[in-house]
Amino acid sequence: MTTIEFEPLAGPFGARVLGADPDAFTADDVDALRQGLFDHGLLLIRDQSISAAQLVAIGHAFGDLEILPEPDKRHPDHPEIFNLSNVRADGGIVEFDEPQAVFLRGTERWHTDSSFREVPALCTILSAVEVPTRGGQTQFADMRKALSLVPAEQRAEMEALTLVHSYEWSRSMNPGRMNPMSEDERAKYPPVEHPWIRTHPDGSQSLYMGGHASHIAGRDEAESRQWFAEIEAQLSVHDVVYEHQWRADDLLVWDNRTLLHRLLPYDIANERRVMRRVTVAGVDQPR
Ligand code: OGA
Ligand code: MN
Repeated sequence: MTTIEFEPLAGPFGARVLGADPDAFTADDVDALRQGLFDHGLLLIRDQSISAAQLVAIGHAFGDLEILPEPDKRHPDHPEIFNLSNVRADGGIVEFDEPQAVFLRGTERWHTDSSFREVPALCTILSAVEVPTRGGQTQFADMRKALSLVPAEQRAEMEALTLVHSYEWSRSMNPGRMNPMSEDERAKYPPVEHPWIRTHPDGSQSLYMGGHASHIAGRDEAESRQWFAEIEAQLSVHDVVYEHQWRADDLLVWDNRTLLHRLLPYDIANERRVMRRVTVAGVDQPR
C-alpha cells in the first residue's frame, strides 16, 4: 500500500508527489517513486525542510549514493552531500570569479550528472535551502522526446556512435579558473564511452549526451561539438523543456538517464542560492 500520488506539473513532463512522507517511506512508496521517476522524468516534493541526515536517508531510498570528485564540496559530516551553494562557510557570498562560482556557473551548460562514470548516475536529488528572488531556475530537457525530433537518416548514423565523456575535460571547460584536480581524483575518472542513443530496460530510447561529452569517438572535437550544439539548439524550440522555478524547501528528484538539465543564470555574487545535492548511483552501464 502506498499513499503516494503523482500530479502532472505545468509543462511537458514532471510530476508533483503528493502523500509522501520522506521520513517514513515504505517499500511500496519506494517502488512507486522509482516507477514515477521513470514515467515522469522528474518528481517534485514541496515543503520539505530537511536536515542533511534526512537528505542522505531519502537518497538511500533510491539506491547507493555517489561521492563526487570535488572534495571541497563534500559536506563535512556526510560526504555524499554535495554543496552547491554560493554562500561560503563564513556566511559571505562568493565572488563571480572564484572557483566555487566558476564551478556553479559550469552547471549552466546542458548536462547529465556523472555521465563521466563507467556506470553513470540514476538520479539526482536536489534540496533547495535558499533561493534567489530572480533567475536561478533549473531547466530540464526530455531526451526521449529530443531523440524523436532527430531525422531518421541522422538517427541511423547516431545508432553506431559512442560519445567520450570526461570529467577532467568538462571541468577544464568551466567558465573560469578552477583549482587543479588532484592526481588521485584524476586517476579515478579516466574518459569513458557511452552510446549516443541509450536504450532503457522498457525498450524506449533517448539521447545521452551533455556537457561531460567531449566528442564523438573517432571524430574530431570541432565537428562533434557542432553536432551537439545543433541538437541542443532544438531543445528550447520544441516542447521538450520543463523549467523549474524553485521555492525554498523544494525537493526535486530527476532521472539522469533520460533528461539533461542546466542552471539558468542569477546574480551569483549578490543573491544567495543554497542547494544540497545527493546523487544516486546507477546500476547498469548504458547500452
Ligand atoms: C546539479 C546541477 C543545477 C542547479 O545539481 O547537478 O546541475 O540548478 N544543479 O543548481
Ligand atoms: Mn547537474
